[in-house]
Amino acid sequence: MDIEKIREDFPVTREWAYFNTGYYGPLPRPVVQAMSDFLVECMCTGQGNWENLFDFEEKKERTRVKLANILGASPDEIALTRSTTEGYNLALQNIDWKKGDEIIINSVEYPPNRYIYNLLVEKFGVQLVTVEADEEGIVNPADVEQAITEHTKLISMCHVAYHPGTILPAEEIGKIASENNILYALDGAQGPGYIPVNVKKLGCDFYAVAGHKALCGPVGTGCLYFKREHGEKMQPLIVGEPFLFGAEPTETISEERRWLAPYKFEATSLNYLGFIGLGAAIDYMNRIGIENIRRRNMMLTSFAIDELTKIPNLKIVGTKDVNKRVGLLSIDLTGYPAIKLMPFAAIRKVIFRPVKDSISRISIHYFNTEEEILRVKFVIEQAIKLSKIREIL
Ligand SMILES: Cc1ncc(COP(=O)(O)O)c(C=O)c1O
Repeated sequence: MDIEKIREDFPVTREWAYFNTGYYGPLPRPVVQAMSDFLVECMCTGQGNWENLFDFEEKKERTRVKLANILGASPDEIALTRSTTEGYNLALQNIDWKKGDEIIINSVEYPPNRYIYNLLVEKFGVQLVTVEADEEGIVNPADVEQAITEHTKLISMCHVAYHPGTILPAEEIGKIASENNILYALDGAQGPGYIPVNVKKLGCDFYAVAGHKALCGPVGTGCLYFKREHGEKMQPLIVGEPFLFGAEPTETISEERRWLAPYKFEATSLNYLGFIGLGAAIDYMNRIGIENIRRRNMMLTSFAIDELTKIPNLKIVGTKDVNKRVGLLSIDLTGYPAIKLMPFAAIRKVIFRPVKDSISRISIHYFNTEEEILRVKFVIEQAIKLSKIREIL
C-alpha cells in the first residue's frame, strides 16, 4: 500500500490528523472529482436534460451493483438510503409485529437506535430484552441464545459496536437466529470499509450501511440489504413514484413496476450527486483492497493501543485484541472530561470525538500514520499536564 500516494488522495491529511471517520469519513480526490463532474454537467447542460438523467440513472444503478458486490448480495436486494438510520427504520418498521413480540438487543447498542426501538414499543407493544456484553465489549452468542423465548421475533445488533469498536460475533449469532427461526437485523454503520462483509455468511435478514463513514463516501448516502424474500411484502417509508428506473420519459410506470423492490423504496427524486460519489468511493476502496485496509488498520490500532496505554490512568474501552476490533478506539481518561481535550486537539490540528464523560473516540483508518497517533498521545499528555498545573496553582 503506497501510503504517500493515498495521503495525497486525501487532502485532509495535509493539515489535519483526522481521527473522526467513525462519524464522517473524509473524501478522497476521485470522489470529489466524480461529484464535481456531475455538478458541472448539471450546470452546463441542465439537470433535467434527458441525456443527463439517463446517465445519472445508470451511474446510480452502478453504485447499487457496487454496494451489492461489497456486501456479497445481489443488486435487487439493495435499497439506496440516505443513512444507516433510514435503512434500519425501513427494515425494523417492516416487520409484522404483534403485541408481546420480543426483540433481543444488547448493552453495546448504538444509543440513538433506541428511537427506533421505542417507536416499536409504543406503536406495537413489543418488548425489549437486553443482553449484557462482557467487559471486552463483546456479546456472547450463548447469552443471546439463552435470552430467546417463544416470543422472540428479532435479534437486532450492531455488526461493529460504535463505542468499544468490537466486531460482534455476528455469524455465530446469525446461526442461532436461523436455527430458532428468528429474524436477524444488523446495523452495519461501522462495518463496510473497515472489514470485509458478506451478508449471506452472516445470515442476516437486514443489514444497514452508511456511505459516509469508513467507505469515505459523501454524507447522506447509504443502503439497506434485505433478503430477497422480504422485498415483496415490505412497504416503503415514503410512498411515491420511483423516478425513471429505465422508463422512457413519456412512459407511465405501471402499478406492478411501481411496487417492485428495491425501486419502490426510492420514491421520486434521488440524491444522484451522493450516489455517484459513493460509487467512486467504493471504486477507490476496491483499488486498495479491503483486506489491505483491514491489515493496515490492525497494525495502526495495535500501535495506538501500545502508545496510548503508556499514559497513566488511560484505559482502552473494549478489547485490546485487534483481531476482535476495528480502529474505533475509545479511551477513558478516568475523571478527565473528554470535551476538555478538544481545544488542545484543535490547536495541534487533530480531530477526534468526545463520546461521553471522560471517554473520547479516536477512529483510526488506513490513511492515518503512526506519527499522527503520536500526535494524539502528545495532545492528551499536554492536556493532562496542564490540568495538573492548574490544580496546583
Ligand atoms: C453503530 C452506528 N449505527 C448507526 C449510526 C448512525 O449512522 P447514520 O448517520 O448513517 O444514520 C452510527 C453513527 O455513528 C453508528 O455508529
